[in-house]
Amino acid sequence: MSVFSGLKLKSMKLIRVLLLAVVLCFGNLAFAGEGMWLPQLLKALNEGDMQTMGMKLTAEQVYSVNEGSLKDAIVHFGGFCTSEVISPEGLLLTNHHCGYGQIQSHSTIEDNYLKKGFWAATKADEKANPGLFARFIERIDDVSEIILKGVNDDMSPSEVQSIVDKNINAYMSDNQGSQYEEWMVRPFFNGNQYFAFKTVTYPDVRLVGAPPENIGKFGADTDNWVWPRHTGDFSLFRIYAGTDNQPAEYSADNQPFVPKHYLPISMDGVSEGDFTMVFGFPGRTNQYLPSQAVRQIVEINDPAKIEIRDVALKIMDKYMRADEKVRLQYSSKFARIANYWKKWIGEKTGLEKTNAVAKKQDLEEEFTKRVKVDSKLWGQYGHLMKKFGEKYAAIERYSFTKDYYDEVVRRNVEIMTVASVLDRMVSRFENNGEAGYNDFKPRVAGYLENHFKNYNANIDQEVFIALSDLYRDNVDREYCPTTFSVTAKSLEVALTDIFQRSAFKDQDKLKAIFEMTPEDAVKALKGDPIYILFSDWKGVYDEKVAGPYSEIKAEIDLLQKRYMRGLIDAFPEKTFWPDANSTMRVTYGKVQGYEPRDAVYYKPVTHFDGVVEKYIPDDYEFDLDEKLLDLYRSKDYGPYADATGSVPVCFIGTNHTTGGNSGSPAIDAEGNLIGLNFDRAWEGTMSDINYDPSICRNIMVDIRYVLFVVDKYAGASHLIEEMTLVHPKTK
Ligand code: ARG
Ligand code: ASP
Repeated sequence: MSVFSGLKLKSMKLIRVLLLAVVLCFGNLAFAGEGMWLPQLLKALNEGDMQTMGMKLTAEQVYSVNEGSLKDAIVHFGGFCTSEVISPEGLLLTNHHCGYGQIQSHSTIEDNYLKKGFWAATKADEKANPGLFARFIERIDDVSEIILKGVNDDMSPSEVQSIVDKNINAYMSDNQGSQYEEWMVRPFFNGNQYFAFKTVTYPDVRLVGAPPENIGKFGADTDNWVWPRHTGDFSLFRIYAGTDNQPAEYSADNQPFVPKHYLPISMDGVSEGDFTMVFGFPGRTNQYLPSQAVRQIVEINDPAKIEIRDVALKIMDKYMRADEKVRLQYSSKFARIANYWKKWIGEKTGLEKTNAVAKKQDLEEEFTKRVKVDSKLWGQYGHLMKKFGEKYAAIERYSFTKDYYDEVVRRNVEIMTVASVLDRMVSRFENNGEAGYNDFKPRVAGYLENHFKNYNANIDQEVFIALSDLYRDNVDREYCPTTFSVTAKSLEVALTDIFQRSAFKDQDKLKAIFEMTPEDAVKALKGDPIYILFSDWKGVYDEKVAGPYSEIKAEIDLLQKRYMRGLIDAFPEKTFWPDANSTMRVTYGKVQGYEPRDAVYYKPVTHFDGVVEKYIPDDYEFDLDEKLLDLYRSKDYGPYADATGSVPVCFIGTNHTTGGNSGSPAIDAEGNLIGLNFDRAWEGTMSDINYDPSICRNIMVDIRYVLFVVDKYAGASHLIEEMTLVHPKTK
C-alpha cells in the first residue's frame, strides 16, 4: 500500500460505485477484469485496484526498471506466444501448442515426439531450434512527444503517417543498441500515444520437454475454446547464453541463462475468488470500435469467414476420417483452420447474446450527449459518428470481398498459396533478372519441399472448386476473375480442368520446371493454368478491391484515432486501457466460474478424474495411454493433489486475454506461478470486441498438473529440482 493512501482508496471506491452506475446505464466501460494494462503504468493506474482485489505486491514489484521484478521473468516466445522463466537456469514454460512446430520439427516417424512426448534426460540432450528466440523487455518509455512532433488534426492519413515514420526512424537511429538489443516503437490508443520498448533477444532456445499430444492437446478440436477443459497444454524450453550470460547464437559452449528473476511456483493452488494476474504479449483487440463496425463483424465478416471455413473443414474432415495417413498430414492444418472458425462462431454468438451493437450505440449516444454540451469537444468530435456511418457503409462491400479473397485465395486453397509463392519468383525474375530468380529459388524450393510433405491433391481440388463456387455465388461479379463469368455448372468443369492440367499440384512436375533455365522456367510457370487463374484473380482484386479498401480503411483509422481521444476526453472519470498490439501487458482478475446458459453454472476448477471421464479408447482426440491410466488407478499423485484428493487440471478466471497470451503465466497475489494461460471459454470469445465480465473467462492449466506430468508421468524429477516450490497459503 505504498502509494495509494486510504483516502485515495476511498475516493476510488466512490468512483467505482459511480462508474458502476454509468456502466449499468450504458454498459461497456471498464469493470474489474476488463483491460490489458501497460506494466509501467500500473503504479499510476491500477495498483490500488489490484490491491483491493487481493494483490499483496506493489506495482514496483511487478515492473521495475532498476530492480529485478516480475516482468524480468516474462518472455516473448518467438514473437507469437508468451513464456516465463521458472528456474535460475533459464528454464522456460510455455504451451504445447506454442512449441508445437519445434516439437514436430524434431520428430520423425520412428521417433514421433508429438505422439510419445519428449524429455531431455540431461542438458546435453536438449534440442536446439534455429530461428526460435526468447525476448525480454528491459524498459518501456513514453515517446509520444517525440513521435507525434509536427502532427496536427488537419493532416490527411498519409501526411500523418509520413511524419510519424520519419520521427520513428530518427528515434531508432538515435537509440541503437548492441546486436541483440533493440528499441521498438509502437502506437497506442490508435496512434494517440507512442511507447518505446527496449528489448534483449536470446537466439539460443532449446527444447527440454513436452508431454504427448494425448496430454498436451487432449480434447484437440472438440474441446478447443471449451470449458470445462482437461488439457495439459504445456511444454518446456531453456534459454542458453554465452559464457558471459549475454545473448549468443547457438554454440555447444553456451551456458544455461541466469535470469534477473524467475517465478517461484505455488503448490497451494487457487480457490474461487482468489486474485490472479496474467502477464504476457496479447496480440490484437478492438475494444473501442463504433457500433457500425461491430454490426459489420456480426452480420457480414464473421458469417462470411465461418461459411468458407465450414465448407473447407467438412471436406478435410471427410478425407481425414477415411485415411489415417491423411489424418496425420492434415491434423495441424485442420487445427489451425478450425481454431479461428470456432472462435468466430463463438464471437458472433457472444456479440449477439450480449447485445454488443446496442451497447455501443448507447455509449455513442452518451458520448454525443457529453460532446454536445461543450463547444470545444463538439468542434473536435461532433462530426465523428456521422462520418463513421458514411465510411463503414462505403467499406462494407470491399471488406466483405477482402475477407472472401483472404480466406479463399490466401488461406484455404493450398494450390493458390503455391501460385502466390511462384508468382513472387516470377516477379523476381522480371524485376531483378536471373540473379534475383536464382537468389530466391532455394527458399521457394525449401518451401515446396515442406509443403508437399503434407499435401493431398484430392482434398485441395475439392476445396478449390467448392470455395471458388462460393466466391462466385457471394462476391459481386465485377470483383470475380473473368474465368468465373460462366454458369455454375460449366465453372466446375473449367476448374476441374484447370486443376488437373496444372503442374502446381505435382512435386515432380515442379521439380522439372526448377531444373530449366530461369527464362524457360518462368515461361512454364506463367503458362500454367493455375498461374493464369491466379493472376486474373489477383489482378481484379488488387485493382478493384484492395485499392479502395485501403483508402477507406486509412480514413477509418484516422477517425478511430479521433474517437479514441474523444472517448478519453468525454469520459474523464474512466481509466482507459489501450487495445492490445503484441506489446507487454498485465491483466488481472479473479478465479471465477460462470453461467453459460440458463440454470447452468460452471465451476472454475477441473480435475484429473475428469480427464479419465472424457477418455475414449483409440479416439484421436480423447485417447489416453496406459501410463497415465495407471497413475489414475494407483492414485499416485504425490504432493500434486488438492483437498479433493485429485490433481487439479485447469481453472478459469476473469483475466482479459487474447491470442498471443498463450503461454502467459497466471500469477497469484504474491507473485508465484499458479498456472499457464492457453485459451478462453467459448461463450466469451467476443472479449476482443466487447469484454463482458459475466461470461468472459480465460483458461489456464493448473501448475500442479504440469508438475504432476513432469514428475510422476515423465519421471523428469531433475526438472522439478531446478524449480522453487513454495507454500504461500500454508507457510
Ligand atoms: N484456442 C487456443 C488459441 O487460440 C488454442 C489453440 C490450439 N489448439 C487447437 N486445438 N487448435 O490459440
Ligand atoms: N489460444 C490463444 C493463443 O494461442 C489464446 C486466446 O486466444 O485466448 O494465444
